[in-house]
Amino acid sequence: MDQDIGKRLAAEEAAKYLERGMVLGLGTGSTAAHFVDIAGARVAEGWPLKGVPTSETTRRQAALLGIEIIEPDETTVIDLAVDGADEADPGLNLIKGGGAALLREKIIAHAARKFIVIADKSKRVTALGAFPLPVEISPYAWALTVAAMRRVLDEHGFSQAKLAIRASDGVSVKTDGGNLIVDCALERIENPGVLEKALNDIPGVLENGLFCGMADMIIYGSDDGVSTAAPRT
Ligand code: 5RP
Repeated sequence: MDQDIGKRLAAEEAAKYLERGMVLGLGTGSTAAHFVDIAGARVAEGWPLKGVPTSETTRRQAALLGIEIIEPDETTVIDLAVDGADEADPGLNLIKGGGAALLREKIIAHAARKFIVIADKSKRVTALGAFPLPVEISPYAWALTVAAMRRVLDEHGFSQAKLAIRASDGVSVKTDGGNLIVDCALERIENPGVLEKALNDIPGVLENGLFCGMADMIIYGSDDGVSTAAPRT
């Protein structure tokens, strides 16, 4: 399977939900970049579209394409947010944050009237957890926060979990907001909604990469075409 074809097809399907005049939440990552690209093409055709970017990388891409950038504190309305995911389960729960943008992504997805997730088919899993769960924490007293995370994970049956501060070339990765990411290798998360809340109860944890009950739709793409998953009503 060519994953990039799947990503593109999913983005094209999501673009069917674009309407003139919309304020868009623009996600982060290689799949979301396809959607930004398509939104930019609409702008080039004369569509009035504005975008709230979830990362500096996305901001640069959108600005280069001529999409009018709206700062997140300049609007209370986001019509449609479109973003990728690292894993998605049958209940439409997600793991996100592989691109270290999860706090901004979750704020924008939560605010959006509609949140569409786009992903190549390899992101569909029966249970979340093979992808290490990213948790964004304050750099202040980070070791205390990591110790508290270990206790909470232990209480939730993850006593063997391996936690690592994300680093690149030996240097801790900083998010666009200047925070740290802790990647938690949990293998299988049976109750993602419970864990999402428990981790966020720890002072020092700013947000975690479990996005439970937030997606209105997931569009999976593969070189065979697209399929759509929506919550059961
Ligand atoms: C960034 C994210 C991305 O949406 C996620 O990592 C998927 O990325 P890609 O589309 O490149 O596979 O959550 O924080």
